[in-house]
Amino acid sequence: MIIALNHKSNFNQEEFLNYQEEFKKIQTDHTMILCPSTIHLAQGKTSSIFLGAQNVSAYEKGAYTGEVSAEQLKSYGVSYCIVGHSERREYQKETNEEIGTKITRLFQNGIIPILCIGESKEEREEARVKEVLQEELEMATRNLTEEERNRLIIAYEPIWSIGTGVIPTNDEIHEVFDFIKGLFPNTKVLYGGSANEQNIEELKQVKTIDGYLLGGLSLHPDKLKLFLDRLN
Ligand code: PGA
Repeated sequence: MIIALNHKSNFNQEEFLNYQEEFKKIQTDHTMILCPSTIHLAQGKTSSIFLGAQNVSAYEKGAYTGEVSAEQLKSYGVSYCIVGHSERREYQKETNEEIGTKITRLFQNGIIPILCIGESKEEREEARVKEVLQEELEMATRNLTEEERNRLIIAYEPIWSIGTGVIPTNDEIHEVFDFIKGLFPNTKVLYGGSANEQNIEELKQVKTIDGYLLGGLSLHPDKLKLFLDRLN
């Protein structure tokens, strides 16, 4: 399975180096993608993991103060990059169109995008889940070739589940995964949103899940190890 670890804006340098010492002790056959803050990427690569970024510039290169380009990420050994996380959609007002441009930049530089999609609580209550996901998917991937669509990774993260401790029922996850895989039959789809070492026993019953995008849990190597042990 693919296990992507989203550290978000956590860890100063010392904390990150301490984390890595603990993290290196975890033995697993899963494909581990560590996505630390951009500032830690240069110190992030170890032999047993892939390195992922949490964001990329929509611009190729040049006079874009504060931006980090896909080419720069690649030169630091980055193989994957999260795009369209709901926190960026909300706080940085990222649009599906901008997310689509970022995905193109990543593929141009040989980096695999992890495209996050998900509905809000209101959208679920209004029975608009499929409509929202379809729009996010179609608008962000419309310029991709068939081959790129297959290499893309999709992460389904219901917004109401991120960091809240609440997860969808297995039936709800099944329904969404069947829908996404109907549109993208050859694409790996991850689940994200409050997945932890306790609810993994329940989540792992959903056989269509190809992996997990972990936020809060990823900051705790001891809990992460339990999660991975129980997943096996
Ligand atoms: P969480 O975050 O696991 O803390 O809910 C997941 C994410 O935002 O990717």
